[in-house]
Amino acid sequence: MTVIMPVRTRCPADLVEAIRTATRQHADWQQTADLVARELRVHLPGPDVLTADERAGDPDDYRCHVLHTEPDGSFSVTAMVWRPGQVTPIHDHVTWCVFGVVQGAEYEQLYMLSADGAHLAEVGRSQNSLGEVSGFAPPGDIHRVRNSGQSVAISIHVYGADITRLGSSIRRVYDLPVIG
Ligand SMILES: [Fe+2]
Repeated sequence: MTVIMPVRTRCPADLVEAIRTATRQHADWQQTADLVARELRVHLPGPDVLTADERAGDPDDYRCHVLHTEPDGSFSVTAMVWRPGQVTPIHDHVTWCVFGVVQGAEYEQLYMLSADGAHLAEVGRSQNSLGEVSGFAPPGDIHRVRNSGQSVAISIHVYGADITRLGSSIRRVYDLPVIG
């Protein structure tokens, strides 16, 4: 008898299938991020993929809810919930990432590590508004994200790994002075 393990998901089936098709092209990380971003723009779910409790956020910190982990470990889908003022550390990532804002807006600052590794320089800023989808692939992915708005912000993130096995999407946190 064949035992079929349930796929752990509460992500819309059309989004999961579209990401699966994109990742199975086995392109490089940047190309895969671009392909997945195209699909997330078409299939971006609403904030109601989360429960009302989850959508309220956590007063202590921003929260990450796993919506789907692909059984072969090739990608995962999460929802991040930020109350006003909540912010990540400056960090980079273990793999490519595509994210789309489904409520509120997120403010992102991009950084570059100095050649000697002793400090960071800010190299860009962007506001990611409701409905906007962006993607990136390491290297050059050092950033900090905050909710600088007045209401709870929610975004859907797709990562090119099973982040529940890794424990996090963060490769390194940069606790370094920012110059310039
Ligand atoms: Fe990040």
